[in-house]
Amino acid sequence: MADDTVLITGCGSGIGRETALAFRERGWNVCATDPDPDAMADLAERGCLTLELDVTEDGDATAVVERVAGEFGGIDCLFNNAGYGQIGPLEELPTDRLREQFEVNVFGQHRLLRAVLPVMRRRDGGTVVNMASVYGRTVFPGQGAYCASKWAVEAVTDTLRTEVADHGIDVVTIEPGPVETRFGERALARKEDLEPTGAYGWFYRLYDPELYDRRFIDRGVGYVQPRRVAAVVVDAATDDDPDRRYVVGPWKYPLLLGVVVPDAARDLLYGLLKRFA
Ligand SMILES: NC(=O)c1ccc[n+]([C@@H]2O[C@H](COP(=O)([O-])OP(=O)(O)OC[C@H]3O[C@@H](n4cnc5c(N)ncnc54)[C@H](OP(=O)(O)O)[C@@H]3O)[C@@H](O)[C@H]2O)c1
Repeated sequence: MADDTVLITGCGSGIGRETALAFRERGWNVCATDPDPDAMADLAERGCLTLELDVTEDGDATAVVERVAGEFGGIDCLFNNAGYGQIGPLEELPTDRLREQFEVNVFGQHRLLRAVLPVMRRRDGGTVVNMASVYGRTVFPGQGAYCASKWAVEAVTDTLRTEVADHGIDVVTIEPGPVETRFGERALARKEDLEPTGAYGWFYRLYDPELYDRRFIDRGVGYVQPRRVAAVVVDAATDDDPDRRYVVGPWKYPLLLGVVVPDAARDLLYGLLKRFA
């Protein structure tokens, strides 16, 4: 049995799936989890322990952590990856949909880290890797719910790092730009959740599936493969002194919009974008 063990959420597709494979290739014990265990059949064939875990369920989190710690003797890395993107102008978004966005992207990570930290503390070490996004430090019109959830992830992660440092536990954030997964297509499908008012024509033009595909999901323009994000997560987990945050992909530069560009300049830019959408 390998010495190191990682627990990953949201392994049914995309970044979670690729990260499970990347850790396996490095010889780690991998517990890959997802609400749909059938979606991880190939990961089981490649030697991962696959377990059902919906991050919105307290019982799932504690049962999975107990099982993994029992089977492998501990947990060296938690990759809090599960998440989705709720799009929509904030006025048209029912508050319950905003709550659900936080339930998965923020409270889901919190649930897992509360279950895993006692296990890591028992061995005085480990790495928590929380998935944020470039939208954890900037915003974009029509993505308020998602941006709010990822800003919350950033705040939780930065705070947690200071709180658990004495226990030898590293806490890092991953901030990818666009990654070629099912994320975008799933986010577009969530337009169904909105309550249209007729006041936000720019949103429906900007997020028209065909135009959106040409403008933002051009498969290549600024997009990175999930495998590249996976390699960064493995690096963070195996580094004795990891960076606090890892920005992945060329879209890291738009982060400047959230960090150094004055609010007024950013608002002006988005105003133009809406006008010409
Ligand atoms: N793709 C991007 O451009 C991008 C950029 C920056 C950050 N991210 C972040 O990367 C993470 C992974 O996204 P991805 O791009 O790999 O998208 P993806 O292919 O849609 O994968 C998302 C995974 O999360 C799982 N998930 C959703 N709700 C869950 C829940 N309640 N409990 C447990 N698992 C749940 C999904 O499971 P099911 O398939 O069973 O629903 C799926 O396996 C997300 O946190 C996302 O915000 C993505």
